[in-house]
Amino acid sequence: MSKNSNQSAKKTTSRRDFIKKGSSLLVAGGVVGSSLNFARAAHAYGSDTIKIGLVGCGGRGTGAAVQAMNTTGGEVKLVAMADAFGDRLQTSFRSIKGKHGEKVDVPEDRKFIGFDGYKSVLESDAELVILATPPGFRPLHFEAAVKAGKNVFMEKPVAVDPAGVNRVLAANEIALEQNLAVAVGLQRRHEVRYKEIIGKLQDGAIGNIILSRAYWNGGGVWVRPRNDQQTELEYQMRNWYYFNWLCGDHITEQHIHNLDVINWLMDGYPVEAQGQGGREVRKGKDFGQIYDHHMIEYTYENGSRMVSQCRHIKGCWNSVSEHAHGSAGHADISGGKIYDTQGNMVWQTKGAGDGHQQEHHDLFEVLRKGERPNEAEYGAKSSMTAILGRMATYSGQVVKWDDALKSNISLANVDMMTSYDEEAPVKSDANGGYPVPVPGEFKPLGEKKA
Ligand SMILES: NC(=O)c1ccc[n+]([C@@H]2O[C@H](COP(=O)([O-])OP(=O)(O)OC[C@H]3O[C@@H](n4cnc5c(N)ncnc54)[C@H](O)[C@@H]3O)[C@@H](O)[C@H]2O)c1
Repeated sequence: MSKNSNQSAKKTTSRRDFIKKGSSLLVAGGVVGSSLNFARAAHAYGSDTIKIGLVGCGGRGTGAAVQAMNTTGGEVKLVAMADAFGDRLQTSFRSIKGKHGEKVDVPEDRKFIGFDGYKSVLESDAELVILATPPGFRPLHFEAAVKAGKNVFMEKPVAVDPAGVNRVLAANEIALEQNLAVAVGLQRRHEVRYKEIIGKLQDGAIGNIILSRAYWNGGGVWVRPRNDQQTELEYQMRNWYYFNWLCGDHITEQHIHNLDVINWLMDGYPVEAQGQGGREVRKGKDFGQIYDHHMIEYTYENGSRMVSQCRHIKGCWNSVSEHAHGSAGHADISGGKIYDTQGNMVWQTKGAGDGHQQEHHDLFEVLRKGERPNEAEYGAKSSMTAILGRMATYSGQVVKWDDALKSNISLANVDMMTSYDEEAPVKSDANGGYPVPVPGEFKPLGEKKA
C-alpha cells in the first residue's frame, strides 16, 4: 500500500483486450450485461455523462448518489435503483429527484425491489454502481458488480465476517485485472486534515509510534420496532443494525472509521487482538444480539499497540477520534494537531472539508481522466480489523489475524435469500430475545459455518 492512502491508479488497458476479457467474465459470472459496460469501464470519460446505479436506497445510498451527482467536470446521471423494500426506494427516489431532478432518469421499470434487485441494476447500462445496503450483502453485491464489469463505489464496512472479507479480496483481484475503479466509503482518507497529518506522522514528526488510541464512543443509533405484519426475516432486515449477519456489530459498522485511520498511519494491519465488552444497557428483544461496548488492545507486527474503545451508552464520555503517541511527541490525529514531548503544540492543520463529498469529487475526477483507483484492499482489511476485535471481545480470547481470516467463518448464506418468508439466520428464544455472545463461552474460531 502506498504511504498516503489510495493505491495508485492503474492506467487503462487496451480497449480491445478489455472487451475480450470482459465478455468471458460475463459468461463465467452468470451475470447478463452488455460488453458496453466493460468498454466504458476502460474509458476516459472526459466531460461525457457517467451513468450510475444505486443498490441500497437508504440514508447513505441516497446521500452518496446526491454527492456523485454534485461532482463537476461533466454530468452524472442516475439510471437505475434497487432496494429490498419499495417504501425505502420511493423515499430515496423522491429525495434525490428533489435535489437533482434533471439528472435522475429512473422510470418505474428501472426501479427494482427485493433480494434480486441488484442483478437488474447490474444489467442496466450504469457504468458505476453505488453499493450501500447493510454490509452483510456487500461481498455478494461487490462480486457480482465486478463480474458485470461495473466501476464501484461501496460503503464501508465491506463485510461482516472472515468469509466476506476473503470474498471481497478475491473479487478485487478481478477488479484490478479488469481495471475497474473500486472506491470505499472510508472518507477520512480523502480529507485534507487527515492526509496532511498522517503524512507528517509517517515522515517521523513524533518519532516511532509506540501507542495509538481510537474511539467511537457515543449514545447509540436508531431502533426500528417490530411490526406485526413482518416476517422474522423482514424484521431483521429492517432492524439490521442489531443483527451480526447484517451489521457485524457497531464495532464493524462505525468504529471501522477510526481503526482504519490507525491502520493507515501504521501502513499495516494488527496481527492479533484481545479485549472485553458486553451489553450493559442494551437489553431486551428490540436490540438483537450486538454489544453496547467493546474495548480492545490490538498489536501490530512491529509491536506497536492500538487501544480501541467503542460504546453506545448515553450519559457517558463521548469521543469520535484518533490519537498517536511516539518517542518524540504525540498527535491528536482527528483534531489535526501535533505536540512535542513537553506538550507544546508544534503544528496544526488548516484543512477542513466534507469527506463524504470529497471522496466523490476525487473518484469522478480520476474516472474522467481514465484512471481507476482501487481502495478495496484497505477497505477489506480494515473491515477485518473490526471483525477481529469483535471476535476478541465476544470470546475474551487472544485472536490472531491469520487464524481468523483462515477460519473463513460465515454468519449467513445471503446468496440463497429470495423471499421474506424464508427462515432468518438468527432465531429468537421463547421470550423473543436473541442469542448474545458470552465471553469465556463463545469460541472465536468456532462460530457456526453457514
Ligand atoms: N461512510 C459513512 O460515513 C457512512 C455513514 C452511514 C452509513 N454508512 C454505511 O452505509 C451502509 C448503509 O447504511 P444506511 O445508514 O444508509 O442504512 P439504511 O438502513 O438507511 O439503508 C440501507 C438500505 O439498504 C436496503 N437493503 C437492505 N438489504 C438489501 C438488499 N439485499 N438489496 C437491496 N437493498 C437492501 C434497505 O432496505 C435500506 O433502504 C452501511 O454499510 C453503513 O455502514 C456509511
